[in-house]
Amino acid sequence: MVSWVVTGATRGIGFGWIENLSADARNQVFALIRSRATAAPLESLAAKRKNIHIVEADLSDPESLKQAAAHVAEATGGSLDVLLLNHGAAAADTSSLLPTAFHGKEKELEHEISENIKVNLTTSIYVTNAFLHLIRKGTEKKIVFVSSSSGDIEFTRITGLSAVLGYSIAKAGLNMVATKFGAELAPEGIKTLSISPGWVNTEAAQAITGDPETRKFFLSIFHKLDANVDGPIPVAESVSAQLKVVQDLTEKDSGKFFTHRGDDILRSSGEAEWF
Ligand SMILES: NC(=O)c1ccc[n+]([C@@H]2O[C@H](COP(=O)([O-])OP(=O)(O)OC[C@H]3O[C@@H](n4cnc5c(N)ncnc54)[C@H](OP(=O)(O)O)[C@@H]3O)[C@@H](O)[C@H]2O)c1
Repeated sequence: MVSWVVTGATRGIGFGWIENLSADARNQVFALIRSRATAAPLESLAAKRKNIHIVEADLSDPESLKQAAAHVAEATGGSLDVLLLNHGAAAADTSSLLPTAFHGKEKELEHEISENIKVNLTTSIYVTNAFLHLIRKGTEKKIVFVSSSSGDIEFTRITGLSAVLGYSIAKAGLNMVATKFGAELAPEGIKTLSISPGWVNTEAAQAITGDPETRKFFLSIFHKLDANVDGPIPVAESVSAQLKVVQDLTEKDSGKFFTHRGDDILRSSGEAEWF
């Protein structure tokens, strides 16, 4: 039996992870969510699949995370195989502003940076540290941080994507967080990875790229990398591709940033399957 904790599991890609993993009865799947208020589809799936456990926690509160980890430990006998930090969002309402537009808007800039760091990065460190003692006892010993290509410098340089400043900074930082944990924990056989899920058809993607004009703009920038991109991919496709990358993760690749295809940037693939 392989045990998984997935954060941000109420909807979108996180819910896709729960659907995929729980279809195999050999997996024990913990959906770590901040509130049942947005979890109706998850609740009804959990009612049908007994290997799904819903655990509520405030990811910004170490005490709440400690309780969540204790809950998981009770069910697994004190271990965890894979921790999947999927939660995240382009958090501030200033995400469409380009860097120069923040001139004279220092408060908005601080909010744009700090909110995105808090939601996407700091919480991931809290969760990792709260569950680390369980990972140490696990068999797989894997920690996966769901990042974004917009946190990749080369992607940004080539596509010219200048908006979502705070989100991109937070995801770039998250890639470093994965590498830092990987460096520290390598002697214990713990592997880390940051992964871009691709451009995926979720509410979050709809909110950013759903409007026809914006979608056209995003297609035009993705085409600078790959003429074949024709829109966001389905959640299930992203998840099954990511799952293969996670399953294939070994010490050799620990700390790297991969696309959902398992390549480490357009330098090797020439493809733009990230977002
Ligand atoms: N979709 C894409 O094209 C795309 C591309 C690149 C990267 N990503 C990354 O992939 C991950 C999943 O994205 P998605 O498209 O599935 O997004 P989504 O549909 O908006 O779902 C986001 C999930 O994260 C949770 N979440 C958000 N902020 C949180 C917080 N502060 N504390 C706890 N939970 C929080 C949400 O929970 P609630 O229900 O409680 O709000 C929800 O379960 C994110 O890390 C995102 O940055 C997505």
